[in-house]
Amino acid sequence: VRDCDVLVHDRLVSPELVAEARPDALVLARDGLGQDAVNGLLAELGREGLEVVRLKGGDPFVFGRGGEEALALAEADVPFEVVPGVSSLAAVPAAAGIPLTHRGVSAGVRVLSGTAAETPVDAGTVVVFMGLRTLTRVCEDLIADGLDPSTPAAVISRGTLPDEEVVVAELGRLAEAAEDLEPPALVVVGEVVALRERLRAPALEAAG
Ligand SMILES: C[S@@+](CC[C@H](N)C(=O)[O-])C[C@H]1O[C@@H](n2cnc3c(N)ncnc32)[C@H](O)[C@@H]1O
Repeated sequence: VRDCDVLVHDRLVSPELVAEARPDALVLARDGLGQDAVNGLLAELGREGLEVVRLKGGDPFVFGRGGEEALALAEADVPFEVVPGVSSLAAVPAAAGIPLTHRGVSAGVRVLSGTAAETPVDAGTVVVFMGLRTLTRVCEDLIADGLDPSTPAAVISRGTLPDEEVVVAELGRLAEAAEDLEPPALVVVGEVVALRERLRAPALEAAG
């Protein structure tokens, strides 16, 4: 970021990182640009020989459309490198005290998008991205697909940030319990959520 000529960033990216760009670098927020326009812009800037950083929240290949942008660059013959990030997929539940897998409780994780038309499910832990606004439908789909309405579930809003909020409720009551939460949020459904109470660590002593 400190070396690039152009920084193209997403909304969820931390402003502290954007502020690291050189004062003379061109900084572009992606907001308002369609995916085709972003793909074209990156290819065009790359073809001009500029050093471009495309900065996204979390991992670029987890619901980040990083794969689509990398494909567009490959097709345009523009060299690029993918730098993996720490996805909210695991980071947000971990920071909120929910292990996605736990020996004897859950041996798998299924990751879904709440913006997809349907939310199919079988078993194990279910993580729904972008599901806050559609939470009522998401929960109804999960129950219709066989999850017990009493399954422990959580919504983690603004995870790891100073104003993080975590609501834990049975799946059948989750949408009602989480109605005041703000995006971005991750929904975690499964028995592992119940471990959170037992994982509460004693407060860390201040250093010194
Ligand atoms: C378009 S996806 C991008 C995911 C990103 N590439 C990643 O690996 O975390 C955006 C969704 O990620 C989830 N998310 C990202 N940051 C979050 C946070 N701090 N707390 C809770 N959910 C978050 C929310 O479900 C949000 O709607």
